[in-house]
Amino acid sequence: MKPVKVGLLGLGTVGTGVVRIVEGHQEDLQSQVGSPIMIEKVLVQNKSKARNIAVSPDKLTEDPWEVIRHPEIDVIVEVMGGIANTKEYILEALSLGKHVVTANKDLMALHGPEILAKAHEHRCDVLYEASVAGGIPIIRTLVEGFSSDRITKIMGIVNGTTNYILTKMSQEGASYSDVLKEAQELGYAESDPTSDVEGLDAARKMTILATLGFRSNVALEDVSTQGISSVSKEDILYAKRLGYELKLLGIAESQDDQISVSVQPTMVRKTHPIASVNGVFNAVYVFGEAVGETMFYGAGAGELPTATSVVADLVAVVKNLKLGVNGKQGAVAYKEKKLKTDEQ
Ligand code: NAP
Ligand code: HSE
Repeated sequence: MKPVKVGLLGLGTVGTGVVRIVEGHQEDLQSQVGSPIMIEKVLVQNKSKARNIAVSPDKLTEDPWEVIRHPEIDVIVEVMGGIANTKEYILEALSLGKHVVTANKDLMALHGPEILAKAHEHRCDVLYEASVAGGIPIIRTLVEGFSSDRITKIMGIVNGTTNYILTKMSQEGASYSDVLKEAQELGYAESDPTSDVEGLDAARKMTILATLGFRSNVALEDVSTQGISSVSKEDILYAKRLGYELKLLGIAESQDDQISVSVQPTMVRKTHPIASVNGVFNAVYVFGEAVGETMFYGAGAGELPTATSVVADLVAVVKNLKLGVNGKQGAVAYKEKKLKTDEQ
């Protein structure tokens, strides 16, 4: 059984979880795919940094091309974040015929079509389940689970950091800046948390969900976005007194082929299940013409929940490799979107 060799870009919160799951669940993974899965090389920014996971020093490198152009590596797992470098690395990996798994919503929301086209050209997989809602398999659910239906609405909490902040402010009267710091220490927040608190991270995730759910080319600039940085403790307490919780909600709707997508702080009645989605948890409602209402709930960020999605994608790529069916997903033809305007 020839091992499948993986190049890991990034050994931070998510990368550490990926190593833990690949090593800790090796026997289960192997029984599903029929080969060992081995992490061959790991790209980091600083090899001498202290880490809370033991990785053999000869596997660590600061040279991206040593990983991407490694002749024995079949799959690149990108969990380093950022846009310009990662785009360059992923496009190069694809042009070399390597499959890609990424947790990078920033990249997929902005350059998804270009990356998927390149993947299609080279018959490669690009899977990105961890890019939205951490441990909830929402992308697979939209693409495969609801392939038979027409989705009309996707709504939910898709950012763990802001939900963690709003929950602590509401339940403990904690201060915004203290809880943001805590979310950073727990590894939930982006390296620049502005994208969490200003709603951009959620907008990027809603762009991905709306594109896949409505099978339309939705762009980030189509998403009307407002974050929580101007929400005060008083706003939250006032909402509570009136019987509401304040949540950062993403809402995407498709009606008569017209699409609207927004992210904004929203007063949610306490009796609605979404009002009790607390802490780092995310919840996504999907409404389909045939299926009606469905709800998906789970940890939206953090080391192991996110790595669960990354490694599930890795398993899917390896299963495709065994069957010789990689590179099918880029063949989806998305409709040109029609945006709903304010006058309508
Ligand atoms: P992180 O903790 O900041 O880790 C980033 C890793 O990438 C570090 O190991 C860093 O190296 C390495 N790195 C960064 N820039 C690099 C560069 N230019 N060259 C070489 N190595 C570089 O980030 P993370 O929280 O794991 O997030 C990674 C990705 O997953 C991001 O796209 C994020 O949006 C996404 N994501 C995160 C979560 C979460 O809960 N954290 C959930 C879902 C998706 P050093 O260790 O040497 O500094
Ligand atoms: N910063 C993101 C969040 C990580 O808090 O939801 C998961 O995508």
